[in-house]
Amino acid sequence: MANAVHLGSGKVRELYALDVERLLLVASDRISTFDVVLPTAIPDKGRVLTGLAGFWFARTRSICANHLLALRPDGRSTECRRLEMLPIECVVRGYLSGSGWKDYRKAGEVCGHRLPTGLRESDRLPEPIFTPATKAQSGHDENITREQAAQIVGAQRFAEAERLSLALYNFAAAYALERGIIIADTKFEFGTDRTGGLVLGDEALTPDSSRFWPADQYAPGGLQPSYDKQYVRDFCEKIGWGNTYCHHELPAEVVEGTRGRYVEAFEQLTTLRFNDYLANPSIVLS
Ligand SMILES: Nc1ncnc2c1ncn2[C@@H]1O[C@H](COP(=O)(O)OP(=O)(O)OP(=O)(O)O)[C@@H](O)[C@H]1O
Ligand SMILES: [Mg+2]
Repeated sequence: MANAVHLGSGKVRELYALDVERLLLVASDRISTFDVVLPTAIPDKGRVLTGLAGFWFARTRSICANHLLALRPDGRSTECRRLEMLPIECVVRGYLSGSGWKDYRKAGEVCGHRLPTGLRESDRLPEPIFTPATKAQSGHDENITREQAAQIVGAQRFAEAERLSLALYNFAAAYALERGIIIADTKFEFGTDRTGGLVLGDEALTPDSSRFWPADQYAPGGLQPSYDKQYVRDFCEKIGWGNTYCHHELPAEVVEGTRGRYVEAFEQLTTLRFNDYLANPSIVLS
């Protein structure tokens, strides 16, 4: 990668500067559970994420500007506009799961949204809610109230981020549901460009940044099977790690099963064959 300056490594992505205005985001095949990277990679996972994010970026431009400039032929590298990222994570929840469910059980509310009583785990919410979180430098992100988030980024930015996040989620959730996938919740990361405009960055609406559930197996009242970490979770449970970080190399069948689920999510949502994407990544953009 001549002329590209390595800026840093996230849990999943490598960041390079192409010039002052452009970045290259390279999605690796690393997989993390509970914010810790596992020792075993999932082949092509980075390509699935890159392709799916590109697919959504191309379809949501009329809702919100985004950072995508081009996908590279390797299928895992995104050329994008360099942004000043907002220091909050913009989470939208359409269903009650994860930390939303935990907060609800404790207090009957999530990030200041008062919810009806009697909801079960994984229940659909009366309407999607915006539940911002801090971007922890290390460890887990923490849910914050709308007021706290508005204090961090300013009231106007907050209102804009909330409006765009809800609009993006509503569009994508309806689109995915028609293809048999429930997007239970999702996380967006926004930044500002040189003119100060709000722009959607990072990855968006992938199984890593969202909870994807198969709609035909949806059964509220407990955990749902997921498209990404299910095999890894089941494996950890089987060997007695329970709901914790898995230090073991994953066996071949867990790797293959996980890869299969990622590819299945890609094909179901895009109605494209993953092999066709590998041959020509730009097909997700049209
Ligand atoms: N257009 C952009 N300009 C600048 N930074 C960006 C842009 N898009 C994404 N980023 C940043 O690049 C990094 C992507 O790396 P990666 O997704 O691996 O991080 P991560 O460890 O998963 O962190 P997080 O949990 O916050 O997503 C994130 O820190 C993200 O905020
Ligand atoms: Mg990330």
